[in-house]
Amino acid sequence: MMEFVLVGFSDIPHLQWILFGIFLLMYLAILMCNSIIIVITKTDPALQTPMYFFLRNFSFLEICYVTVTIPRMLMDLCTQKGTISLLACATQMCFVLMLGGTECLLLTAMAYDRYVAICNPLQYPLVMNHKVCIQLVAASWISGVPVVIGQTGQIFSLPFCGSHRINHFFCDIPPVLKLACGDTFVNEIAVYVVAVVFVMVPFLLIAVSYGKIISNVLRLSSTRGRAKAFSTCSSHLIVVVLFYGTASITYLQPKPNQSESVSKLISLFYTILIPTLNPIIYTLRNKDIMAALRKLLTKLLT
Ligand SMILES: *[C@@H]1O[C@H](CO)[C@@H](O)[C@H](O)[C@H]1NC(C)=O
Repeated sequence: MMEFVLVGFSDIPHLQWILFGIFLLMYLAILMCNSIIIVITKTDPALQTPMYFFLRNFSFLEICYVTVTIPRMLMDLCTQKGTISLLACATQMCFVLMLGGTECLLLTAMAYDRYVAICNPLQYPLVMNHKVCIQLVAASWISGVPVVIGQTGQIFSLPFCGSHRINHFFCDIPPVLKLACGDTFVNEIAVYVVAVVFVMVPFLLIAVSYGKIISNVLRLSSTRGRAKAFSTCSSHLIVVVLFYGTASITYLQPKPNQSESVSKLISLFYTILIPTLNPIIYTLRNKDIMAALRKLLTKLLT
């Protein structure tokens, strides 16, 4: 009897196939765009800088991150069943949290990289040498792992004696915590603390980095340089605010007051929508990437 049922979107039955189509398209778009970014930043000689090193790793991370949730969701939409074993549910939660945490930290490293490049250009090659880049990326991937394993273990050692229907489209903390029938106070506090450390602190660091970048850019004399820096920073900031904002709403109140449909909608932002937007935001407005893409396409087509 140790099985859960992911309810998914079955409260809107007439939209199942439309949702299936939309999510499938988004998933394929994420896979394609991020693979292209990985190939371009690996092969193009003009893109061998720390910024593109981070971007390549970030694209790789995005592919992993969406692969933990979307294929499973597509399968549930297709089969209309959604049963999931306790172990599979715990594994999914573990990976979503781990990769989500990595995403928070890696975005912080990327903001720090831009901060050094723009505010300390003379020291940039020294500060962001290859070793530091690798250390920052490795730290982003590794530092969340023990915390997340502990957290997931703690949640799944709670007794689940009532309903086994998870009113969500993947095994996230709040909907699973809602089904536990023991005292979940300690778990809620633990989730809260981890959310502050892995979501709020990185968000504040990013805000500080971009604040310094903007104040630095304002001192630039050329209006064009200013406009360019502003358009880059503003698009990054929109994504950052949406990603960290929706993640904080979810994890800073693990026993939510809002309705479950609202929670599902909010989760769609940080699990699917932002990963879809990221390659667009971080690359399409970047001239070097577009030039490299053009080069690659002409090489492939001729
Ligand atoms: C990103 O970094 C992680 C950890 O250092 C590594 O395992 C992974 O292969 C890297 N991915 C890419 C595409 O560079």
